[in-house]
Amino acid sequence: MAAPERYTRFRDISVSERILNTVFLLTIGLGYLMALANMYYTHQRHDGKAGLSVDDIIISYHGSNDQTRLGTAINGIMEPNLRFKSDKDVILQWIQNGADEPEYNEKIAPILNRDCVVCHTPSINPSLPDLTHYATVSEVAHAGGATIARLVRVSHIHLFGIAFILFFIGKIFLLCDLNVHVKRVAVVIPFAAMLLDVVSWFITKQNSSFAYVVIFSGALMGFSMGLQILLSVYQMWFYSRKNTGS
Ligand code: HEC
Repeated sequence: MAAPERYTRFRDISVSERILNTVFLLTIGLGYLMALANMYYTHQRHDGKAGLSVDDIIISYHGSNDQTRLGTAINGIMEPNLRFKSDKDVILQWIQNGADEPEYNEKIAPILNRDCVVCHTPSINPSLPDLTHYATVSEVAHAGGATIARLVRVSHIHLFGIAFILFFIGKIFLLCDLNVHVKRVAVVIPFAAMLLDVVSWFITKQNSSFAYVVIFSGALMGFSMGLQILLSVYQMWFYSRKNTGS
């Protein structure tokens, strides 16, 4: 004799409940597709090329050494202020290398002190970038990327909002007739992927190669959530296993 059925399955719930579950799941699915489209439109052009790429993600979170204010100025309107043209490449190379302080002291400060601080000193022109010391030069030599404040804001919205969505999708999904071990793992995966996604935004800000983790975890969350939705809708309406009591 098999043990009596203790847990609710789709076959145990009313048609009205199935309808409610189904419209909820389909609306969430549509919302997710819209979120993807939104991500595409907000990020796709960061690198100047159409289409969403890893570079777009890197620029959004990490910033780009090609788009610093100092780099743009020295490539453009400020170039004539350089006494030696060759110093332009020295400065651009330093920006590319990450604009650190030791190299600043060794190579960059002498150039700026000679050619730039005549104007770029707070006491002379308070509205211009201060090029007299590393901290303020560093600000114009690093570019873009997400600020911690923005990441924190987006993270808390994501974590609260998506946790709710995943919880309800998971609650419905648990009514599927499936191996229990598969279900136990399957309900954790989208949550884990979301956490990994959020954590990797912060890491990508420091280390651009983590952009791949952002993409992987985002895709894993979408995939595992989509699978739960599709399986649930399928089992709710098209699947009828004889009650075996297991
Ligand atoms: C003769 C005065 C003068 C000198 C010398 C000078 N600048 Fe400037 N710089 C300016 C002015 C004025 C602006 C503002 C230009 C504007 O906003 O159109 C500016 C703007 C800038 C900016 C900010 C651009 C932005 O993103 O708003 C940077 C960076 C900069 N200069 C770097 C330099 C560097 C590097 C040097 C030395 C090679 C230099 N400047 C030499 C007057 C000067």
